[in-house]
Amino acid sequence: MTIDIIAGSTVPGLAASIARRLGTQAHYPSITKFPDGEIRIIEGDYAPQATVAYVQTMHPRPNDTLVEMQFTVDLLKDLGARRVIAVVPYLGYTRQDVRHEKGEAISVKSMLKTLDFVGVDDILSVDIHLHRLGLAELSGFSRIRMHEVSAVDLLAQKAGKGLSRPLVVGPDAESERWAARAAQLLATDYDVLEKTRVSAKEIHIKPRKLDARGRDVLIIDDIVSTGGTIMEVIKSLKAQGAQKITAACTHAVLSDIDTLTGLFRAGMGEFIATDTINNEFGIVDVSGIIADKLKEIV
Ligand code: R5P
Repeated sequence: MTIDIIAGSTVPGLAASIARRLGTQAHYPSITKFPDGEIRIIEGDYAPQATVAYVQTMHPRPNDTLVEMQFTVDLLKDLGARRVIAVVPYLGYTRQDVRHEKGEAISVKSMLKTLDFVGVDDILSVDIHLHRLGLAELSGFSRIRMHEVSAVDLLAQKAGKGLSRPLVVGPDAESERWAARAAQLLATDYDVLEKTRVSAKEIHIKPRKLDARGRDVLIIDDIVSTGGTIMEVIKSLKAQGAQKITAACTHAVLSDIDTLTGLFRAGMGEFIATDTINNEFGIVDVSGIIADKLKEIV
């Protein structure tokens, strides 16, 4: 079955790569802004095929990208698309998956309900931040079919190159699925630390029994945002006498201007991420795993 690839404004290069892998070309709607900041999307004469994949990631400016996604999907449906697959390499708002405080919005639920309402039929994402809820529970929030692929194999292959006697470390219990898989691929051992998050920026890490002395270490996680989590891990590994420290993540959110400088200053030797978010560290290309999954689900 043929499929149209439509690019949102955030990752146009990734959309082009996905299209290339599917033997087609991405289509780029015109997206402009009115002087007051409202967006205007024009498709002109474009007539979509029955099935389209709309590629839009949710960082930076998660709220803007969400509105752009809602308007574009609604328009694609108006123009005749029957099935819209939202390819959202970094799916935002997934950290707000329960009511952490009394009266707090469960943002991921609200987001999925609005996307369902405008006509999203499927969401395909990479390493979704699934901590308290699994994919099945996320699917329960709306009629949208949820699909996920993992970039951990690609990250481990890239980041593991040249490491001597590597030890893989996951910063918290939730990262165990990635740490275990990376260690398996690198034919080595792994450990997962105990993390308590006091606030967005205050994180406590309890080292377990890992012995990093004299070893190269690969820290692997789904997201690096403030960098607070990785920072604590680096400090702990340095204190133990680890050699080269490489940090790898799927989504380099890098929310603070000094996130990475702080990590390099603390002793990180290398930082590697995927291109689910546009930045200079996104050197691991996820277009292949996304294109393969699209072939499977259409
Ligand atoms: C948390 O559970 C995630 O897997 C990451 O460890 C976390 O989101 C990283 O955030 P930050 O860089 O702000 O510590």
